[in-house]
Amino acid sequence: MTDQPATPPTKDDPDEEPLLEIRGLRTYFFTRDGIVQAVDGVDLEVRRGEVLGLVGESGCGKSVTSMSVLRLISEPGRIVEGEVLFKGENLGEKSASEMREIRGDQISMIFQQPNASLNPVYSAGVQISEVFEIHEGLKRKLGVERAVEALRRVGISDPEQRAGAYPHELSGGMAQRVMIAMALASGPELLIADEPTTALDVTIQAQILELMSELQSELGMAIVLITHDLGVVAETADRVAVMYAGQIVEQATTIDLFAEPKHPYTVGLLGSIPVAGARRERLDVIPGQVPNLIEPDSGCRFASRCQARVDNELEICWTKLPDLIEVEPGHTVRCWLHQEVPE
Ligand SMILES: Nc1ncnc2c1ncn2[C@@H]1O[C@H](COP(=O)(O)OP(=O)(O)OP(=O)(O)O)[C@@H](O)[C@H]1O
Ligand SMILES: [Mg+2]
Repeated sequence: MTDQPATPPTKDDPDEEPLLEIRGLRTYFFTRDGIVQAVDGVDLEVRRGEVLGLVGESGCGKSVTSMSVLRLISEPGRIVEGEVLFKGENLGEKSASEMREIRGDQISMIFQQPNASLNPVYSAGVQISEVFEIHEGLKRKLGVERAVEALRRVGISDPEQRAGAYPHELSGGMAQRVMIAMALASGPELLIADEPTTALDVTIQAQILELMSELQSELGMAIVLITHDLGVVAETADRVAVMYAGQIVEQATTIDLFAEPKHPYTVGLLGSIPVAGARRERLDVIPGQVPNLIEPDSGCRFASRCQARVDNELEICWTKLPDLIEVEPGHTVRCWLHQEVPE
C-alpha cells in the first residue's frame, strides 16, 4: 500500500501525533510454572492511515501485544506495566464500557482464531447487521442488506444465502471473511489484523489484502498487519516492526528494513525469504530456539542464536540487554552491534 496516491498525507509526517502509541508495555501470564513474560517492554507507534507490519516467529508476543492494546487479556494474564495511548488518550484509564465502545467503533480487530469473535447463536448476516444498526442507526432489514453487500465485498459468493448461515455452518476461510466484513463494517480508524489471511487460499488472500488496501485508502484507516509472511509485508506495509521473544528488536520503513536490515535476527529472517515468485516460507529457519519466557536471561534475548555475536566476540550480549535505539532517522534497533558498548 506504499504506492496508493490516495493515502492520507499525515502518515509521512513524523511530528504528527501517532494514532496509537504503545509505551513500555509488559504483559505477563502468572502460571503455575512461573511468570511468562510474554510481552516485555514493547514500544510501538502507529501513524494515521499507515500500514504497520508486525512480524516475528511463533510465540514472540504478537497476539498478546494486540490483545493488550484492546484490553482483552484475561486470567492468568495481566498488563503489569506500560501505557497504550489511542489518539492521545490512555486506554488503561477507560472504563469497561468505554473500552467496548472503542472496540466496536474506532479500533477493530480480526482475530487469529477464525471463530473467536463470531457468536454461535446468530447468523453471519445478523452479526454484521448489528454493527450497522449500532453505528448508523439502521433498522434490521436495511442492516441485513448492507451486511449482504459487505459479504459480497469480501469475496463471498452467493452472499444472500450465506448471510443466513450460522458460524458452525461456515468453513474456516468463510468464517474468516465474515469476521473481516464485520471488522470493517464500523469503518474503524485502526484495524488490527492478526494473521488475517493465513487460513485462506492464495487467491482469496490476495483478494482480502486488496480489499483491506482499498478500504485503507478510502477511509484513511490505519492497519497493524500481523503476519508470518514477509512477502505480504513487503507488498503492503509502510513500516515494519520485528518482534523477538516479547520485545521489538527492529523498526523501520519497509524499504529501509528490506534494503538494510540491522538486527541479526531480521537479517536471518530476510535471508529466509525465497526469491520472488517462489513459494513463501514461514519464519522458522533460523537455527536454535526462542528462549524461555519464564526466566529469560539478563542479556540480549537473541544471544544464543546470534551468529553476529560469535563473529564479533561480544561478551556483553550475554549479560546486558541492549536498548532499542534510533540508529538512523526512523530506524530503531535493539543490538549491541549498533550501539556503544559500555566499559
Ligand atoms: N493464556 C496464556 N497463559 C500462559 N502463557 C500464554 C498465554 N497466552 C499466551 N501465552 C504465551 O505468551 C507468549 C506469546 O504468545 P502470542 O500468542 O502473543 O505469540 P504470537 O507471536 O502471536 O505467536 P503466533 O505467531 O504463533 O500466533 C507465548 O510464549 C505464549 O505461550
Ligand atoms: Mg498470534
